[in-house]
Amino acid sequence: MDLFTPLTLRGTEMRNRVMVSPMCQYSCDLDGQATDWHLVHLGSLARGGAGIVMTEAAAVNPEGRISPHDLGIWNREHAEALAPVTEFVHEQGATSAIQLAHAGRKASTHRPFADESGPVRDETGWTPVGPTDEPYPHDDPHDVEALDQGGIEQVIEDFRRAAELSLEAGFDIAEVHGAHGYLLHEFYSPVTNTREDDYGGDYDGRTRLIREVTAAVREVWPDDKPVFVRLSATDWLPDRESWTVDDTVRLSQDLEEAGADLVDVSGGGIHPDQQVPQTGAHYQVPYAERVKHEADVPSGAVGKITTPQGADEVIRNERADLAILAREHLNDPHFTLHAAEELDRMDAVDVPDQYGRGF
Ligand SMILES: Cc1cc2nc3c(=O)[nH]c(=O)nc-3n(C[C@H](O)[C@H](O)[C@H](O)COP(=O)(O)O)c2cc1C
Repeated sequence: MDLFTPLTLRGTEMRNRVMVSPMCQYSCDLDGQATDWHLVHLGSLARGGAGIVMTEAAAVNPEGRISPHDLGIWNREHAEALAPVTEFVHEQGATSAIQLAHAGRKASTHRPFADESGPVRDETGWTPVGPTDEPYPHDDPHDVEALDQGGIEQVIEDFRRAAELSLEAGFDIAEVHGAHGYLLHEFYSPVTNTREDDYGGDYDGRTRLIREVTAAVREVWPDDKPVFVRLSATDWLPDRESWTVDDTVRLSQDLEEAGADLVDVSGGGIHPDQQVPQTGAHYQVPYAERVKHEADVPSGAVGKITTPQGADEVIRNERADLAILAREHLNDPHFTLHAAEELDRMDAVDVPDQYGRGF
C-alpha cells in the first residue's frame, strides 16, 4: 500500500490518499456565498491530483462564521453557488468534501488579512455563542451568549440542514468540524465547558453535542457516502484539567458509533496558553496513529506533511489512512501530480490533457 492506493469508505472510492485540508479563504461578500475564487481555488486543487478536495469551514448558520467573509451553508443559494465547484471537482476525478462548522465563541472576528484584527465591532459583526458566556481570552473580547437548551437544539438542526444542502450541492463527504476551539470543541473540552446541565459535566455530558451533531448529519447523509469528524486530539494544556489524546481515542470510538467513518486528527485552539510540545514535520501524526490503532477507527493525519516521501511514509507504515495537507497545497496546488513524478507512480494519476506537456 502507498499514497496512491485508492481508499474506499462505505461505497465511495477516493483515487488516492491525499486530502486537501480545509482552509478558510475569507473570500465571500458578507453573504456566505461561494465566489469565482472558490471555483478556481478548489478547482485547481482537484486538477492537481488530490484524492479528496475539502472546502474551507462552511458555517451552518450566520453566527457560526469566524469572520463576516466566511463561506456559509445555511440556505439554498449557498448550495447553488457551490454546485459548480463540486461538478468541476468531479470532472477532475477527485472526491468533493465540505467542512460543516460553527465557530462558537471565536466567531465574528476580522479576517486575517484585514487592516484590523480581533472582534468585529461594526454592523457586520454579531454576538457569538458558546457553552458559557465566558469569552475567548482577548484584550477586548466580544460579549458571549451561553446557548440554552433551545439554542443547542437549533445548532443540531442547523448541522442537519447544512448536510442536506451539501448533498444538494453535490458533495460526497461531509466533515463535522469539531476542532480548533470552535463550538463543538468548546463543548467537549473541560477548559471551556463548565455547564451543569446534560451538555456539561462529565465526559458523556461534554461530548453529547458533538455526538448528537454527528448522528444528525449521518441521519441525512446517504449510506454510501462517508462522514468525517475533525477533532483537536489535545488541548495542549498539560497543567490543567483539559482534553487529552486518551479522551480522543475514546471519543473516536463513540463517534464511529454515531455514524462517523473517519476521524481527521488535528490539535489545539481552545486557549491561547496552549503549549505545543513540538511543531516540526509530522507533529500530529502520532495522534492519528493512536486513533487508527487504539480506537480502531480510520484516521487522517495532518500537520506539516509537506513532502511526497513524508506523505507516502504515513500511508505505507499504516500510521493513518489519509495524508492531509493544508499549506503545502497553497504552495503547490499540483502536489499530488508532482508526488507521482517523484515517487515514480505516474501510472496512478491522470494529468489533464491540457497540462500534459508540463509533466
Ligand atoms: C489559510 C488556512 C486556513 C485554515 N482554515 C481551516 C479551516 O477552515 N478549517 C480547519 O479545520 N482548519 C483550517 N486550517 C488548518 C489546516 O486545515 C491544517 O490543519 C493546518 O494548517 C496544519 O496543516 P499544514 O501543516 O499542512 O498546513 C487552516 C489553515 C490555514 C493555513
